Amino acid sequence: MNISALCNPYDYRNPVRDAAFFAGRGEEVAVIKYELDQAAVDRPSVCVVVHGPRAAGKTSLLNATEWMAKKNGFVTVRVELIEGDGEPAVFFRKVYEELVSAITAEGTDEMSVPGPAAVRRVMAGAAEAASVAPLEFPEAVALAGSEGRLPEAALRADLAYFVGLLGHPIVLLVDEAQLIANDARALSVLRFLTSRVDGLVLVLAGTSGLIDRITDVHSPILRQFKEIEVRGFIEWEDVYACMVRPLVSVGIHGSASANVVSALRQLTDGNPYEIQLYCHEMFARWQRGAAEGMKLTAEVLEGIRSRMESGRDVLERPLIRAVRAMERHDLIAFNVLSSALGHATADETWFAYNMVGSPEITRAQYDRCR
Ligand SMILES: Nc1ncnc2c1ncn2[C@@H]1O[C@H](COP(=O)(O)OP(=O)(O)OP(=O)(O)O)[C@@H](O)[C@H]1O
Ligand SMILES: [Mg+2]
Repeated sequence: MNISALCNPYDYRNPVRDAAFFAGRGEEVAVIKYELDQAAVDRPSVCVVVHGPRAAGKTSLLNATEWMAKKNGFVTVRVELIEGDGEPAVFFRKVYEELVSAITAEGTDEMSVPGPAAVRRVMAGAAEAASVAPLEFPEAVALAGSEGRLPEAALRADLAYFVGLLGHPIVLLVDEAQLIANDARALSVLRFLTSRVDGLVLVLAGTSGLIDRITDVHSPILRQFKEIEVRGFIEWEDVYACMVRPLVSVGIHGSASANVVSALRQLTDGNPYEIQLYCHEMFARWQRGAAEGMKLTAEVLEGIRSRMESGRDVLERPLIRAVRAMERHDLIAFNVLSSALGHATADETWFAYNMVGSPEITRAQYDRCR
């Protein structure tokens, strides 16, 4: 096979868009699948919150949720929030427009739903409410004006109408949901929407602080949420799948060595973005003829380091400067100390470190860094 003619199958820039590339997340997917399977037009709505650090794989998991929901025959509505969407009127208008678009796209001939353009015209006061009958929300928005309150009752009525019309649940997927978590009104409207309209599945994905913000701003809504934390891959098999699936997609089999997978797991702490980045670099070197296969060499590490540093003053950042100035034994101590953050005490971590080989630092050096 001519490797150099292939497209590099590793994409560290974008969320996973193809199920064939989606690795791991067995537990998370099972939880979401269970919630989706519970949903029905005459059953209470379900809320799931997916949260985790940047580049942990939240949007990719949201994509997987969309595939599962479509398999169940549900209509999915996708909303990506940007700065400024946190205001309830803006947020729910955006959701409503996406919803109308999704339903119109889905709609069969006998289903009469006005298109998004007609809805927008009524919302702007440029067309009669009758043109989008029986929908209530567009006219209610126009009557409330730009500074007005969100017409919640009309929104609920229309959502219930859509669910009834479709005859199956609607799945609403909101990415970057931390942007609405600061607004108690947006959260309480969401709460009443899902508690008073049946047949909705709401999935919010956002950064790590999302749950804390919701707790601070509007804690009652948490009781209604099923919480899923997205972390790096812990299982060796998941890191292996992350490396192997893109290779298989371009017809390459048996090129992921167990040693490289283990090293990647350690090097990246299971972060899928970093795994993709290292694999991209390894594949590129293989394509250029600089390596024979997917080899994790010092040159690959150097390539990634220079890629991360290029064009940015990374080395000038105070934290990076401080780390670069550290002694070797301090670096080892920090590596050991941070290897089980939140999961073990410093004594337990020291014990585990000693179990896996002869220690490179003394207990006194370790204790100095605590
Ligand atoms: N399940 C997965 N299988 C394989 N690769 C994954 C998986 N999840 C994430 N990745 C990889 O990790 C990178 C980051 O994923 P994603 O964009 O989903 O993260 P995110 O948490 O939404 O990030 P952000 O906080 O920046 O929005 C992507 O390039 C993707 O290729
Ligand atoms: Mg994302």
